[in-house]
Amino acid sequence: MHAPRTNEGPPPSDPAIARAVARLREGGLVAFPTETVYGLGADALNEAAVARVFAVKGRPSRNPLIVHVADAAAARPLVASWPEAAERLARAFWPGPLSIVLPKSAAVPALVTGGGPNVALRCPDHPVALSLLRAFGPLVGPSANRSGRVSPTTAAHVREAFPDAAEVLLLDGGACRAGIESTVVSLVGDRPRVLRPGIIGKERLAGVLGTAVDGPTGPTPGDGAFDSPGQLESHYAPAAPARLCDAADLAEILDAGGRIAVLGPAALVVAEPHRLYAIPSDAMGYAAGLYAALREADRRRPDLIAVVAPWTYAEDPTDPVWEAVADRLRRACRPGR
Ligand code: TXA
Ligand code: MG
Repeated sequence: MHAPRTNEGPPPSDPAIARAVARLREGGLVAFPTETVYGLGADALNEAAVARVFAVKGRPSRNPLIVHVADAAAARPLVASWPEAAERLARAFWPGPLSIVLPKSAAVPALVTGGGPNVALRCPDHPVALSLLRAFGPLVGPSANRSGRVSPTTAAHVREAFPDAAEVLLLDGGACRAGIESTVVSLVGDRPRVLRPGIIGKERLAGVLGTAVDGPTGPTPGDGAFDSPGQLESHYAPAAPARLCDAADLAEILDAGGRIAVLGPAALVVAEPHRLYAIPSDAMGYAAGLYAALREADRRRPDLIAVVAPWTYAEDPTDPVWEAVADRLRRACRPGR
């Protein structure tokens, strides 16, 4: 997520990369690692391939896909114009966990953008992803999970959701370092606006842009100003009901019975039949471990996943990364369940 790593990663002649490129040329799907979560890749300029991504994920067609590129030069043909603000953000944060929304060019199929006029672009900071993008070209890359479910941060998570290698070819790049999806920032409109919080916070964006940055505004379904459909509530959700609580509520929840999976700090004592899933208490460590912990907790089919709000016990509750973590936890803990 820091300096560009232009010389890292397998060469285009690498057999795994070559196989992946061949699959993409046929209009097939290739799951690939990024620094945030695994993406479900397909040729961004091939409508049939993009349609396959929506079908396989079970994704609503109006929810647009992020287009992944090898660098800023590869992004330019995909946008109507490349403003100074985009240049600044790309220089500061690419490759990295930032998706930039701009008016699309005619090169981008309407299917990619959910029928809308804008496209989200991102250059991921992972050697395997960058090798693939250099060898093939722009790829759509939604998180490689079934729609609405928890994003995958390991190759095994991807295989669980998509077991058929004939349907989804998988490039294994190990565990994702950042662990939660990219910050999505829109440069459409009067002021830059964060549509989805991530590791790169508003303050850092504002610092690079030299202007104020709005949002996220927390849109809700049915809200007229709803312009990032992936921000639907009840997203990133485990199968078991999940609930955000603080340490004081926890005793009461555990006493009420059932089998509770608790996501909390390692020092917490949780007695049988409940079980503790320990998670680091620094914001970056928490983000990196969150999805794997939710999946692990879900696996035992608990009656409830109780998530102790991490900022209530964090070493540094002011870390801006907690904003992104809070966003994902709010969505994982579905309202009304
Ligand atoms: O970190 C990430 O961004 C990962 C990795 C694989 O790169 N990808 C990812 O994609 O999280 P996905 O499709 O699961 O989430 C994309 C989010 C959704 O909330 C979607 O609505 C929003 O970005 N988005 C995509 N294109 C957009 C656009 N043109 N305008 C507004 N929001 C957009
Ligand atoms: Mg997703």
